[in-house]
Amino acid sequence: MRTLDDLDVKGRRVLVRADLNVPLDGEKITDDGRIQASVPTITALTGAGAKVVVCAHLGRPKGQVTAKYSLRPVARRLGELLGQDVAFASDVVGDSARGCVESLQDGQVVLLENLRFEPGEESKDDATRRAFAERLAGLAELYVGDGFGAVHRKHASVYDVPQLLPHAAGGLVVAEVEVLKRLTQEPERPYVVVLGGAKVSDKLGVIANLLTKVDRLLVGGGMAYTFLKAQGHEVGRSLLQEDQLDQVRGFLDEAAKRGVELVLPVDVLAAVTFAADAEHEVVDATAIPADREGLDIGPRTRELFASKLADARTVFWNGPMGVFEFDAFAGGTRAVAEALIAQTGSGGAFTVVGGGDSAAAVRRLGLPEDGFSHISTGGGASLEYLEGKTLPGLAALEA
Ligand code: 3PG
Repeated sequence: MRTLDDLDVKGRRVLVRADLNVPLDGEKITDDGRIQASVPTITALTGAGAKVVVCAHLGRPKGQVTAKYSLRPVARRLGELLGQDVAFASDVVGDSARGCVESLQDGQVVLLENLRFEPGEESKDDATRRAFAERLAGLAELYVGDGFGAVHRKHASVYDVPQLLPHAAGGLVVAEVEVLKRLTQEPERPYVVVLGGAKVSDKLGVIANLLTKVDRLLVGGGMAYTFLKAQGHEVGRSLLQEDQLDQVRGFLDEAAKRGVELVLPVDVLAAVTFAADAEHEVVDATAIPADREGLDIGPRTRELFASKLADARTVFWNGPMGVFEFDAFAGGTRAVAEALIAQTGSGGAFTVVGGGDSAAAVRRLGLPEDGFSHISTGGGASLEYLEGKTLPGLAALEA
């Protein structure tokens, strides 16, 4: 994979595909982690005298121009972080974009409006996608792929444009891939993976693959209830994916056959309703009352999971253990994060937080980001990499 060192960017227009898909509350960015992560590559390019054209998506507007998905607030924040003005084009490949790009001086930056306002970006039809990619590529002379969080998407800006322009991977993509390689190629053992989050259906592929690789798999969060049910326990009104029960039973059998220790919650915080101030109590995971739903792992599970991490040499963690957005149900996620931090420090383990909600949780809970070996910017992307899939954005950069 070519890197920035392989491109001569001075005085040239460089299209940077970044992942600036950040959570917003109105126009307020509630977690700017991904914008921060994109700064080093942009700075390297402006420092080398490039005219930088940044493109990115926000949310899932599905080809419709939608005010709440505008990247305008992101342009402001990017400017603050870069310490220089960032022009904002109010369209993607239209008059505004072309005008902004034409007036760029060496070392200046423009951010284009949300790529997903253009139906061509995500089109499944190759010709439609390619036609949009040609217009986007027409804005620049070189392409840098740095949006790691989107490399699993076969989208015009990720997959097609690098086929149309001389290209290289940005520093973020290079760093993320290095970390994931370390997890997939002979990880130091014991190798422990902690999975959480709401839906087991999002993680089927990665679980199947991890069962061939890990020594221990700890399962918490909403997805744990489908595992508990598959073991024959009642889960009350907890999140349950009935249609995944057979698949999950298969995972339980496979883990037993392969000698992988699959660890499930032994107690949970069971609430009467899904709310920040919901009345709740600690109950056995095997006996959740019919009128309650589990919203976090309980105190005994937190200790159990910490003990299962205490000798780990490699850890990958994806997905919160409970509804961490509600303070009352953030304790399980905090406990797992703290166990990882301890293991990174005195334990000397290589610990990776796999993007998305778990990375947001680390920041929201005020935990030190440098307490982990690496916090990925890609949720889905890192899971698909671990699943062993070919990621379109990486394949295009490697070509
Ligand atoms: C993410 O948030 O994981 C990336 O930005 C990709 O977004 P998407 O899942 O909407 O494609």
